[in-house]
Amino acid sequence: MAQATTPTQGLEGVVAAQSAISSIIGSTLTYRGIDINELADNSTFEETAYLLWYGELPNQQQLQQFKSQLAANRELKPQLIEFMRGFPKDALPMVSLRTAVSALAFYDPEANDMSPEANNGKAIRLLAKFPTIVAAIQRLRNGQEPVAPDPNLSEAANLLYMLNDRRPSENAANVMDIALILHADHEFNASTFTARVTASTLSDMYSAVVAALCALKGPLHGGANEAVMKTLEGIGGPDEVPAWVADALARKERIMGFGHRVYKEGDPRARWLKQMSKQLADETGNPKWYEMSAIMEDEVKKDKGLLPNVDFYSASVYTYLGIPRDLFTPIFAVSRVSGWIAHILEQYQNNRLIRPRAEYIGPEFRHYTPMGAR
Ligand code: CMC
Repeated sequence: MAQATTPTQGLEGVVAAQSAISSIIGSTLTYRGIDINELADNSTFEETAYLLWYGELPNQQQLQQFKSQLAANRELKPQLIEFMRGFPKDALPMVSLRTAVSALAFYDPEANDMSPEANNGKAIRLLAKFPTIVAAIQRLRNGQEPVAPDPNLSEAANLLYMLNDRRPSENAANVMDIALILHADHEFNASTFTARVTASTLSDMYSAVVAALCALKGPLHGGANEAVMKTLEGIGGPDEVPAWVADALARKERIMGFGHRVYKEGDPRARWLKQMSKQLADETGNPKWYEMSAIMEDEVKKDKGLLPNVDFYSASVYTYLGIPRDLFTPIFAVSRVSGWIAHILEQYQNNRLIRPRAEYIGPEFRHYTPMGAR
């Protein structure tokens, strides 16, 4: 039996299991061995999800079939929409998403079937329905009817279409597609590890995905993109950024969207998102958010040596796409659910219960004190 040893704070640097899905080496992130830069340049979110799940890029026929399966499974059951109608209008979208995804299991007869075929079916249904749920949350809280998914649109274009009831421009759909590719997987990040811990108990895929959503919500993980935008909105304008950064660092505050547990030389996803933010700033004729972000990047690097992570420029990108701030983390989830599922399936394939030890630092051994003697 393994002995309990001194713990590593936050499991930093601990290799918790083997995985063949994604790797981080220096500032290079790969999915199944392919650099994300190549995927962002050439691939689509659908193709990337296929790669993550099945290990290889699909051929034409496999991709067509995968896309058809996704398109055929986008709609939500009327009972689920009715349930969602009852959500408080001021509920946080991440809370609504977590609740709606949990409720999806009510209407899936295979929810507790652990066969590989049933798990594949659930994987498709979850990936297909996440955008529909997120868009429905946004519409229902604004007193609007959900927009039915369009089976002829890509995952990215359909998400924007269902949010706005308007077909997105080709450029907007392309930006969203790249954002989805970049967020799809990231080795043993907190939410993925949470999904794997849940799957390791042989709990079902819905439970593992809901657990992952709970971990993604926090501001040190997926919630950081919303926190970045809140920061930018609170500062005012580009001229105020340097003083704001100096002040925040002097107060030892954490600046959201900066730093990373693994990348110390820069997050490769941030470079893409920065480019896309700049492009959208030019196209919309509204440079403010990009300019503020670029100044903040320079100041934080100069004062503290910290670099932006994936969440930093995704905040301005989503804002330029017209997405409200509190929907950023749900949109992260629309993408990351593909990675969670890849990891859940990998965990099931070669499972051993994840159950570490703790170093006990509580009171020394002592006897129970009867009530009258306390
Ligand atoms: N702002 C200011 N100081 C920071 C920041 C930051 N964003 N990040 C790290 N530091 C400092 C920290 O105060 C500490 O300094 P010192 O040694 O002087 O006390 C040092 O850097 C090490 O910090 P740490 O908390 O031990 O590092 P970590 O590896 O545990 O944290 C992190 C990683 C991502 C939680 C952290 O960098 C952070 O809180 N960043 C802001 C939140 C954020 O952007 N999260 C998104 C993470 S990436 C994508 C995702 O998973 O969603």
